[in-house]
Amino acid sequence: MQLEYNVRGVELSDLHKIMTLYKAVAARSGGIARQVDEITEAYVRNFIKRCHETGIILTIEDPSNPGILIAEVHTCSPGIKVFSHLLSDLTIAVHPDYQGKGLGSLLFRTLLQEIKSKHPEIRRVELIAKESNQKAIRFYKKFGFRVEGRLKNRISGKTGGLEADIPMAWIRQD
Ligand SMILES: CC(C)(COP(=O)(O)OP(=O)(O)OC[C@H]1O[C@@H](n2cnc3c(N)ncnc32)[C@H](O)[C@@H]1OP(=O)(O)O)[C@@H](O)C(=O)NCCC(=O)NCCS
Repeated sequence: MQLEYNVRGVELSDLHKIMTLYKAVAARSGGIARQVDEITEAYVRNFIKRCHETGIILTIEDPSNPGILIAEVHTCSPGIKVFSHLLSDLTIAVHPDYQGKGLGSLLFRTLLQEIKSKHPEIRRVELIAKESNQKAIRFYKKFGFRVEGRLKNRISGKTGGLEADIPMAWIRQD
């Protein structure tokens, strides 16, 4: 039987499930800036609350075990009036066992649809990806994000050296 994946909003009660997801991504596939020991309850609680107040946070459950979250995306406003037309700090994470199956695309498509249809005030969505994370950069380009520069030596790479971060943005066209 074909499993059906549904996107839903995140509740504060999902906090520990999101921690488990982020720890798996940090430990096994990387891509997110934080390391396993930096995925704390305070960090996750903080972004859930911020996104409830000023942003969007979405997730996908494992259809055969709804107690497990296998993908999550969030982005929120910087919180001051001059930036009220933008969403920033976008992070997406798909569980390593489920990457490359279209779930990131499903989540991202849903996020952009929600922004386009329910948040006409949002003119810009921005994020930063590590230069070595070409998979993510290709992924974001597929959804209309454009590279806006190259922040040289901004982030520590896996081998201890420094590497560039790539700022990217989606701009509303209408
Ligand atoms: C980047 C990420 C969100 C993509 O989600 P996903 O579910 O794996 O991606 P999808 O299966 O929906 O694939 C969408 C696109 O991603 C890219 N992609 C996915 N898997 C890829 C792979 N193994 N190699 C290269 N590109 C790949 C392709 O552009 C693909 O487009 P296509 O379907 O036209 O080929 C996911 O891999 C992830 O969570 N990675 C770890 C965390 C991370 O890097 N987050 C981003 C931080 S900036």
